[in-house]
Amino acid sequence: MADTLFERLAVGQTPPIVAEPVTLVIFGGAGDLARRKLLPALYNLHVDGLLPPRFAAVGVGRQAMTDDAYREFAKGGASEFSRRPVDDAAWRTFAESLFFVKASIEDAAAFAPLGSRLDSIEHERGAPGNRIYYLAVPPPMFVPTVAQLARSRFVPPRSEAGRPDLPFARLIVEKPIGHDLKSACSINDQIAEVFTEQQIYRIDHYLGKETVQNILVLRFANSIFEPLFNEKQIDHVQITVAEEEGVGTRAGYYDGAGALRDMIQNHLLQLLSLITMEPPHSLNADVVRDEKLEVLESLRPMRPADVDTNVVRAQYAAGFDLGAPVPAYRAERGVDPASRTETFVALKLFIDNWRWAGVPFFMRTGKRMPKRASEITIQLKSVPPILFNAPPNGRLDPNILTVRIQPDEGFSLGISSKIPGPRVRIYPVKMDFHYGSTFGGSSPEAYERLLLDVMAGDATLFMRRDAVEAAWRFVMPIIDRWAEQGAAELPTYAAGDWGPAEANQLIESTGRKWKPL
Ligand code: BG6
Repeated sequence: MADTLFERLAVGQTPPIVAEPVTLVIFGGAGDLARRKLLPALYNLHVDGLLPPRFAAVGVGRQAMTDDAYREFAKGGASEFSRRPVDDAAWRTFAESLFFVKASIEDAAAFAPLGSRLDSIEHERGAPGNRIYYLAVPPPMFVPTVAQLARSRFVPPRSEAGRPDLPFARLIVEKPIGHDLKSACSINDQIAEVFTEQQIYRIDHYLGKETVQNILVLRFANSIFEPLFNEKQIDHVQITVAEEEGVGTRAGYYDGAGALRDMIQNHLLQLLSLITMEPPHSLNADVVRDEKLEVLESLRPMRPADVDTNVVRAQYAAGFDLGAPVPAYRAERGVDPASRTETFVALKLFIDNWRWAGVPFFMRTGKRMPKRASEITIQLKSVPPILFNAPPNGRLDPNILTVRIQPDEGFSLGISSKIPGPRVRIYPVKMDFHYGSTFGGSSPEAYERLLLDVMAGDATLFMRRDAVEAAWRFVMPIIDRWAEQGAAELPTYAAGDWGPAEANQLIESTGRKWKPL
């Protein structure tokens, strides 16, 4: 959206100008994440003129590949996954910044040639050696890669981190960080032996989504909403992240994780903290992250009995996707046929602080639901049953503010209005904002924003260690309780349904309903 009317009239920050040359070293450079997300994101940053001068991206992987072959691999990924079609002229200049080096993480001897290749790429480009190491590798490789970086002296000693006269080294870590609180702490401890917290950027790609960033703008750049965001005005909040896809090709990881670890522990709790945090006193990364952390630390801990009543887990059975039959989760390739891994979770939780005391928050997420849709709905309290909604005339719909995260990005406010005519008849109408029709074009992908922020050294949209651990602390009683229930059968839902009946009971027992999506 370079130089549109919006760009010229907009208030606020300009995109981060990354003036310092950077080399992005992608471990797992020939993997799925690089092909689908990272390389297409870099291409789009290039087209927008946002990459720093003398930028280079160096893929590192076990297989041998020439630079040219890597450029073809990247082009394949960009052609398939870039939000913009690949333009040949733009691609040619971008491709000059791509390189590939074969190195296996376990092989200390391979790191010396990798180091010399990086040095020579930087030398040829006149780059000073600022490096970002991206761990796009399976989680068990996070710590060994960092250890190898330290052993091979790729990272300056911690005491020199942050010195403005030296090139910087930063680390990007993908989720999942750990399998539980203990393993997350252990990974964080081991990474911290090599990198300081300021050098570590833990990605939760939901935070890079335009609509998720807009939550703070919606709340704190408008005076209409903030006075309403509290227990006096809000009846309840729902957060739904529904996916139409099944487990796909990721059974190996997913069957050991499940929806609680894969989605709730990170993405949904992040959405929750943005929608409920106190106004930060500045947009400084740590100030914003401190406020988000407060929310996670104020979540009411669940006792085993609370887990039984407030959390529903389920697994998809055979069903339909767009009319075509699809198999049950247990029949998917790579899934244990006796698996008890949940593909759906719904839960009710409370934030025990003054702002949100007593307000129930309902979350649900699942695979193989009827459609891909992520929304936050904030339902205001009903007006008193005195005038228009006095019985027996019926009930007025309450006001609902909906933040549509994807795919139809935008937000809407449901209000009651009189139908024109001589009688007073009331009908719910919507004030509705759609990104697509207002701003046109395609929003940048989350990874574009996140990669640029790491290059610029802005950690606002990244997970700080304490937040990752606080989120694990909240979900641990659920994990523990389910472990105690070991062999218990899970409720199921037909693929293509909105989850099991138990999820409806969870919310309906409080006199509320899931908002249809
Ligand atoms: C990932 C999960 O973090 O997020 C996946 O591991 C999930 O299981 C994905 O499908 C959803 O992301 P998005 O951006 O498609 O909503």
